[in-house]
Amino acid sequence: MIAFALVVAAATLAAGLVAAVLLRRLPTLRLQLTGLGLVAVLLPLAAVLLSGVAMFDSEHDLTILAVATASATAALAASFLLGGSILRSIERVRGASSALARGDLAARAPEGGPAELAELAASFNEMAENLEGLFDARRQLVAWASHDLRTPLASMQAMLEALEDGLAEPEQYLPAMREQVRTLGLLVDDLFELARIDAGVLTLELHELPIGPLVDSCLRGLEAEATARHVTLRAEIDGSDAKVRAAPDKVERVLYNLLTNALRHTPFDGSVGVVVEPLEEEVRVTVEDTGEGLSAEAVRRMFDRFWRGDRARSRDRGGAGLGLAIARGLVEAQGGRIWAETRPGGGARVSFTLPRAA
Ligand SMILES: Nc1ncnc2c1ncn2[C@@H]1O[C@H](COP(=O)(O)OP(=O)(O)O)[C@@H](O)[C@H]1O
Ligand SMILES: [Mg+2]
Repeated sequence: MIAFALVVAAATLAAGLVAAVLLRRLPTLRLQLTGLGLVAVLLPLAAVLLSGVAMFDSEHDLTILAVATASATAALAASFLLGGSILRSIERVRGASSALARGDLAARAPEGGPAELAELAASFNEMAENLEGLFDARRQLVAWASHDLRTPLASMQAMLEALEDGLAEPEQYLPAMREQVRTLGLLVDDLFELARIDAGVLTLELHELPIGPLVDSCLRGLEAEATARHVTLRAEIDGSDAKVRAAPDKVERVLYNLLTNALRHTPFDGSVGVVVEPLEEEVRVTVEDTGEGLSAEAVRRMFDRFWRGDRARSRDRGGAGLGLAIARGLVEAQGGRIWAETRPGGGARVSFTLPRAA
């Protein structure tokens, strides 16, 4: 009796394993799930029926057969129902992903169903969201860049036409044209730098160097402009021998961008300061001014590309709104962070960190 039971159990196990191997070869998930339902129900049913025939051989055979068939049918129906609903959940994610693949960036998968599939749909949606954001940013970048490139070009074209028509003398327009060419050159340089930051092909020559002399040389370079604006420049360098691991030319560029902003936003008789503080694992550099300070929107958005506090007014007195975006890219590429806040006494404070040299 026990031997018979063991034989039946071994035979069922073997048949189940063979079925599992065969099922895995089926090409679609739908077929595999259907096969799984069939095997899971029919295998025990066959075992029960065979044992019944072999052991009892009684008039109850028909009853056993009927009961077994009924419960097997119920189990099959339940497994097909469940399989169908799993497949539909997968189908919805697949539909969304092929819509995305066709270029519909707004395609999202419904996040219902079993936990694993809901997670799959959620992470798919997050990916789609990021992609859409990235494409939007690209589109905006191109729109703004072409707008900012077109403005100086249109103005030069107008001046050239006036000269061709003899409506003006060259001396009259030359300084303005030189200024426009300079603006265009700066904008193209900035766009190029941003493109390199995005592409991750910045050539960073990292050195271990004290930050003090870099700050000093940047401040010296802006002395004339500060004097012309009646703005005092000062540096507070705490522990000037604190060394950072950074690319000196990039740090200079960041400092220059922050300092020109600070100078531009500081009124007559104000002051601009650079504060260097060594922290545990990094060195913090802060540029602060006594200007109008920062609105909540500015704190949030000033590092965005082409964002300018006052688009209409600042074009003639500022850049294209790329300075801080570049500063952020350069600081992050060197392993630091950059952020802005309002100074307690009024004015803006923009800080960045660089990793300390070991
Ligand atoms: N020191 C500052 N004080 C007040 N606002 C600032 C300061 N620095 C930056 N901003 C704001 O952030 C914006 C973006 O700065 P930036 O990226 O350097 O572009 P841009 O200098 O070309 O305007 C500026 O237009 C300005 O509104
Ligand atoms: Mg700027």
